[in-house]
This record gives sequence, structure tokens and C-alpha cells, in this order.
Amino acid sequence: MSQEGINAALLGLGTVGTGVYKVMRNQKPEMQQKLNTQLSVRHILVRNVEKHRDKVDDPTVLTTSFDEILEDPQTDIVIELMGGIEPAYTYIRSAIEAGKNVVTANKDLIADHGGELMQLAEENHVELRFEAAVAGGIPIIGPLKSSLAANEIRTIMGIVNGTTNYILSKMTNEGMDYEDALAEATELGYAEADPTADVEGFDAGRKIAILATIAFHSRVTFRDVYTEGITKITAKDIAYAKTLGRVIKLIAMASNTPEGIEVKVHPMLIPETHPLASVSGSYNAVYVDGDAVEDVMFYGKGAGEMPTASAVMGDVFSVARRIAEHSVGSTRDNVYRSIPVKRIENTRSCYYIRMEVEDKPGVLATIASIFGNNSVSIEQVIQKNKIKKDAELVIITSSVKERHIKDALLILESSSVVRRVATMIRVY
Ligand code: NAP
Ligand code: HSE
Repeated sequence: MSQEGINAALLGLGTVGTGVYKVMRNQKPEMQQKLNTQLSVRHILVRNVEKHRDKVDDPTVLTTSFDEILEDPQTDIVIELMGGIEPAYTYIRSAIEAGKNVVTANKDLIADHGGELMQLAEENHVELRFEAAVAGGIPIIGPLKSSLAANEIRTIMGIVNGTTNYILSKMTNEGMDYEDALAEATELGYAEADPTADVEGFDAGRKIAILATIAFHSRVTFRDVYTEGITKITAKDIAYAKTLGRVIKLIAMASNTPEGIEVKVHPMLIPETHPLASVSGSYNAVYVDGDAVEDVMFYGKGAGEMPTASAVMGDVFSVARRIAEHSVGSTRDNVYRSIPVKRIENTRSCYYIRMEVEDKPGVLATIASIFGNNSVSIEQVIQKNKIKKDAELVIITSSVKERHIKDALLILESSSVVRRVATMIRVY
């Protein structure tokens, strides 16, 4: 910290970087009162200075050299907003080792290397914060670590990807095509540089890995998370869900069960009356069940320039206060348990299965006996549409083990009366 105040360096000036720069500028007049010191942007790392010159008040802060930032003893906080693993990983490590505090929105990095980087920060007596890595503008990491710290967290269930929630909302409420909705989400700055991470559930998988680690005090990485995306969801399934009084959402879920941690991301039919059902567009929500608090839900914008900048700047302000109070380096990872992660085959759910079958007597009985022989009991059957000579059958099962449903589907797929199993979606 220099005599003039606290200095920050931004790495990246894309969607979130630009938002952070704007918030810094907007907050300038209040900074002294809020922080008891000044906070300035001293460097901004970009790949091409010319491209960004018009975006900033003082273009001399733009640089293409990370070493310039690293070697500047006046830089107190490095704010990493480039995304991806490299060079972000190397830059963050070097910054911590050089005694600089780090704030990042990079869930890819934290989901894979969070433990190691937290340890490095502890060893170097600096802060490492990543509130914006999960659910954009919603404060969730801070509350889990502080306000809810006295709880034994049992379950976290949420909508933590703005892009897919935007797509599913547009498909459900406006009948928009998947491709058009994805293009809009990209245009609005919600999607990742490669939107595969959003639509295949990887982004939500990284976020639930981070939340599970913090909530259960046990290391959960992205590799532990079962992920299924929304690319196979059709207008037909959305319509069937509606007739069942349900909506389809991409749900990220982590539970601490006596047999281990369950952690997964997949589309789910949830009742229209469930609080998560009304979370639309780029909004996210995280539902936390703790032994003392019981149910508590966090809701807000899960992506986009300014909401994400709000979360980043919350971390920056909190680190700046610690610098001003000379108390940096007290952050703890707080991972003190080692709980095994359950395989998806051993988890339980109800299932929605849509299939095309031969339209003749005895078919339903054959299908019911395949389910029965595999310990799957049927809760509801809808035979809705004729497809040429075939029939479309929608079945809702009772709560069964995933391995039983998968065994049953394998046999159904090879059965002479089943043309194809079109969709399998879990039901809440
Ligand atoms: P973005 O718009 O693609 O911006 C990334 C910026 O980093 C670009 O300006 C890019 O430069 C720059 N950059 C990339 N590699 C660089 C390098 N090697 N050297 C210098 N600059 C480099 O991404 P974003 O949406 O702002 O996301 C940034 C981070 O926030 C990611 O980790 C993302 O997952 C996370 N996040 C995003 C959101 C959101 O709503 N967008 C929400 C929460 C968290 P060019 O301009 O030259 O490409
Ligand atoms: N691509 C992410 C989303 C950005 O759509 O939620 C916020 O992390």
C-alpha cells in the first residue's frame, strides 16, 4: 500500500474486466469513506493495447507485459479476469508468491486448483478471493463461509449457469429455438468464450464443485462432478413437462449423505411451485439446506458485465479493507474433512423417460415387465402422440437407483417393441 492508497492491476478487459473498471470509476467519489483510503487501477493487462485504448480514461495503464505488474511493488491487488487455465494459473501463482493479493472470477481455475492456490496464499500471507466464480452477482461463497458457518450443510441445489437458464427460459416461455437463444445469450455477454462449457453443464459443474468444497469442508473437484447438459432438451420435452405441471431447469446439486457426497449437474423436471422454477433468464438462485438455518435461498443475476463486477468488487473492497487494517493473510481454506464422492450409479432419483414404441396390444405390459425386472417401479404413464404407426410413451418412475434405470434402458433399447428411447430426464 502506497501513501496515495491501494493499487490494483486488472488482468483482462473483456466483459467482466470492463464492468470492474466501470464500478471502480463510479465508486471513486465514495472510496475514501467506504475504505478509509483510495483505490486506483494502476495497470490493465491486455493482449492488444490499441484495441482497448478508447475504453479507459488513462491509456498509459494499459500494458501487454505481466512482468511489469509483477515487478511493481506498488501493486497490492491483482484482479484476474482473463479466464481459462493458462496463463491465468501461472500469473496467479506468481502474483501470490510475489506477495500480492488476488481476486479472480475464474471458476475453471478455482474448481481444479483452488486448494493448492489457497494453500499458497496462506503460506505467503496474502488473500485469495473468488466470490464471482460462482453465480455471478449473488453473494454465496461469503455467506457460506461466514453467516452460515455454524451450520452442517446438508444440500445445495441451484441454477448456477446464466446462459443455459436464459436458453431454457426462452425455449419455455417464448418457444424460441435453442440456437437463437444461445446466440442471444452470447451477445449479452453471459456465455463463456467457448459456450460448450455452458451448454454441456461443465461451467455449472465447476461452480458446484467449488460450493461443495466450501459447504462440506471436503475437497471436491470438477472431475468428481457428474455432468449432463441441455443440448438434448427439445420443445417436445418442455411441452410434456408443462402438462405434468413442471418446468425443465439445469440443476446443480450437492448433498452430504451418510454414504458420501453426491455432486451432479443435469436437466431436471421441477414442480412449477418450486422456488427454483420461477428463476428465469440470466438469473441464478442457490438453495441451501443447513441443519440450523433449514432452507435459505440466494437469488440474483448470475452472469453479465455489471452483476459479476459487483461480486469482484465486493472481494476487492474486502481485501482493500484488510490491507488498510494491516490484517491480510488471515483467509483459511477450511477443508479439514475427506469425504468420498458417490458414483452417479449409486444415486437415486425419479426419471422421466420418453420413448417411441410399437403401437400394438401387449407393448405396455412388455415395457412394464422390463422395468419391473430391473427394480424400477412406474409412477405415471402418458401415451400422448401417434408417430406414423408408432406411439410416443412418456413414463415417470418412482425414486430408483441410477444403475437400475440405466440397466432397464439398455434392455429397452434392444427390445423389438421399442423404436427408440428419446430422452431420459431426472425428476425432482
Ligand atoms: P472475456 O469477455 O472473454 O474477457 C477476457 C479478457 O481477457 C479479454 O479482454 C481478453 O483479451 C483477455 N485475455 C485473455 N487472455 C489474455 C492474455 N493471455 N493476456 C492478456 N489478456 C488476455 O471473458 P469474461 O466474460 O469477461 O470472463 C472473464 C472471467 O470471468 C472468466 O474466468 C469467466 O469464466 C468469469 N466470469 C464471467 C462471467 C460473465 O458473465 N461473463 C460471470 C462470472 C464469471 P482480448 O480482448 O484480446 O480477447
Ligand atoms: N457463462 C457463465 C454463465 C458466466 O452463463 O453463467 C457466469 O459464470
